[in-house]
Amino acid sequence: MRGWIIPPPKEPTKSPEEFERERTAKVRWLVGHGYLKSERIRQALLKVPREDFIPDAYRDYAYLEVPLPLPGERATISCPHSYPLFYEPLGLDQGHCFLEVGLGSGYGAAVAREIVGPEGLVVSVEIDPLTFEFAKRNLDTAGYRDVILVKGDGGLGYPPLSPYDRISVTAACTDIPSPLIEQLVAGGRLIAPVLKDGAQLLICLEKGTKGVQRRIICEVLYVSLRGVYSS
Ligand SMILES: C[S@@+](CC[C@H](N)C(=O)[O-])C[C@H]1O[C@@H](n2cnc3c(N)ncnc32)[C@H](O)[C@@H]1O
Repeated sequence: MRGWIIPPPKEPTKSPEEFERERTAKVRWLVGHGYLKSERIRQALLKVPREDFIPDAYRDYAYLEVPLPLPGERATISCPHSYPLFYEPLGLDQGHCFLEVGLGSGYGAAVAREIVGPEGLVVSVEIDPLTFEFAKRNLDTAGYRDVILVKGDGGLGYPPLSPYDRISVTAACTDIPSPLIEQLVAGGRLIAPVLKDGAQLLICLEKGTKGVQRRIICEVLYVSLRGVYSS
């Protein structure tokens, strides 16, 4: 898989109405292309204004299928199809206790918050302090103040609020960090881009009573995981 071509920075010009039209069209596109199936995820993607999680210089590109740069070292907001690509195989749903490794812009955490609803919980860990502050501001402004934000190495998970029903790792690792598997409930699922033979494969892991089962979803291209389990 080749690298992404990021559009040049520019002054934002689009109105809220234009963004709303683009968001609706993008959700229709995600359904049409088979990325999006669940009604709960569809409603969440329609509700969260992705443009409000993107730096001004890239805001107008919010609904393009490219990852966009964020403050911090190699941090990006993933492209729009990444969210159903991760959340559909996870079966992320109402009431889940969800851990995200790689908060980035905060957008994925906001979408997850909408999906799990008031009975659920979203915890997100970010290693880069600049990216963390950017996401915190975005989530505060957008009204998602009950997402639990943790500054640190997400490869270690976040034991105080474990176990988790679902875990999403949004940076590529050489192998799935063992603390994350330990912090998953029995029957829980985890999704992560994993390096294999120079490529990255999106792997969905299920923790059963007789061990873990791994399923390959597709080839992907993500920034590398940093910290103790860096790739
Ligand atoms: C593709 S971006 C995440 C996109 C994000 N989910 C969003 O919706 O904007 C990957 C993020 O993982 C972060 N990251 C990398 N290694 C990490 C680690 N060990 N622990 C926590 N975050 C990490 C990067 O700084 C980056 O912000």
